[in-house]
Order: sequence, then structure tokens, then C-alpha cells
Amino acid sequence: MSRRPMMAANWKMNKTVMEAEAYTAALLPRAADADEVDVAVFVPFTCLYQVSAMTQDTAVTAGAQNFYYEDSGAYTGEISAPMLLDVGAGAVLVGHSERRETFGETDDTVAKKTRRAVEAGLIPIVCVGETKEERDSGGMWDKVSGQVRRVIDELEDADGDSVVFAYEPIWAIGTGDTATPEDAQEAIGKIRDLLREITGEDFADGVRILYGGSVKPGNAAEIMAQDDVDGGLVGGASLDVESFVELVEAAQNAVAQTEQTEE
Ligand code: PGA
Repeated sequence: MSRRPMMAANWKMNKTVMEAEAYTAALLPRAADADEVDVAVFVPFTCLYQVSAMTQDTAVTAGAQNFYYEDSGAYTGEISAPMLLDVGAGAVLVGHSERRETFGETDDTVAKKTRRAVEAGLIPIVCVGETKEERDSGGMWDKVSGQVRRVIDELEDADGDSVVFAYEPIWAIGTGDTATPEDAQEAIGKIRDLLREITGEDFADGVRILYGGSVKPGNAAEIMAQDDVDGGLVGGASLDVESFVELVEAAQNAVAQTEQTEE
């Protein structure tokens, strides 16, 4: 991996404020040891203020799981980019498949959110991926490339380090059914090639593309060792802090291994 890897926890709709504080307190010293990995935790809005306050000026970035692209107004139930910045968040998940599938987010809203996050100085982790039916019917690349293209169309002159993509095949999320390391590499390599074609070398070489979908301590090392995989977005296995720390360590070991091979 030539890019700095990121290991990101997606807590989804889990944890009280007290649980979030205990987790963060346990994570901070361990994340500081993994100094070649960016560590991020995407937490419910209700814990975001506390987790952001605890992680200011540390090795951990606190992020939200969603936001709306307008800054204020009559959008009942929504949270804006300035509100996320106000509580100290540094990043935000955009277009997670659960948002797309359960809450009807479209490629268009995902693209607008990505653009607003970048403008606001929040790092968007933009999630893309296909369903099992799409994969089985040969429609995987149509779906994924369409999702990526729509986001890039909306971004004007963004740098590769202002946005992160996450390839998360929907059939692998929360199912225990992980993509093989080769499948993850193939899909992420294709996304990078597409980005090279539409945005140029610099963006494509700099942008980080994570893999997500049933990443756990037992399979992380192999997935992280793939050339184009720049880290993981982890749901289930991130809820327990010890298990998430093992994943951060797996990313750190992957860096060490790459350095050794290059020597
Ligand atoms: P999972 O979730 O690790 O539980 O499969 C990943 C995600 O949805 O981001």
C-alpha cells in the first residue's frame, strides 16, 4: 500500500453515550501506537459530541454516519455539515448501502452530499457496491461504475486526499460472507482505473479506497495485503473495541510488510 491506510469503525445504530465514552477511552492509546494508520470511528449523532471532544488532537478521527447537503432550514430530522463541524467531527459516511437501500438515497443525493462535505472540509467516505442479484446477473460493474461516475461528475477539482471511497458489496455486509481478497482487489483496482481515466493520475493514485463487508480479525490481513485496498470500513467487528484494535493492527502490519518488500 503506497497510500496511508485507514481503518474505520461504523457503529451503525449502536451504543449509548456511556458505552461510546468507554470504547473511545480504550481505543485512544492503542490507536496512537498504530502511527502509520488513520483510525476513524463513525458514531451515532447522539454520541458524536462526546467522541469528537475525546478525540480532538489525537490519532482518532470522529465522524458521523450521514448528513444533509443543505446548511440549514426546514429539513426536519436532518443534520448539516456546519452542525457536524460545530461538534468537532472530521469525517462523514456518505451513501452507505443501508442509507441507499432502506432510506432511498439516490446517486444524485449521494453526489451532492459528497460535494458539500468536501467544500466544508469534512472527509466523506463514499460507499459504493452492488447487490447479490446485480452481481449474479453480471451487472456489478454497471452499478458500481455508475455510482462512482455520478460522484466524480459533481466534484470540481477535488484532490485525491479530500475524499475516500469504500467498496462495500451489499451481499457481504453483515452476512459473514466476505468477498475474497482477490474479489476485493479486482473491484477496487477497477474503481481506481476508472478514476484514473476520468480524473487523471494524481487523483487516482492519491485517493484511498477501502473495502467493507464482514471484515474481521480473521480475514483482515489478507484483504489489507492487496495492492489497491487502502483499509477497511467495518461494522459488526468494530463494535467490540478489542476486535477493532486487532483490525487497526492488521492495517499497521500490512504497512510494515509493504515496506519490507520494497527494501
Ligand atoms: P459489516 O458492515 O462489517 O458488519 O459487514 C460493514 C459496513 O456496513 O460498513
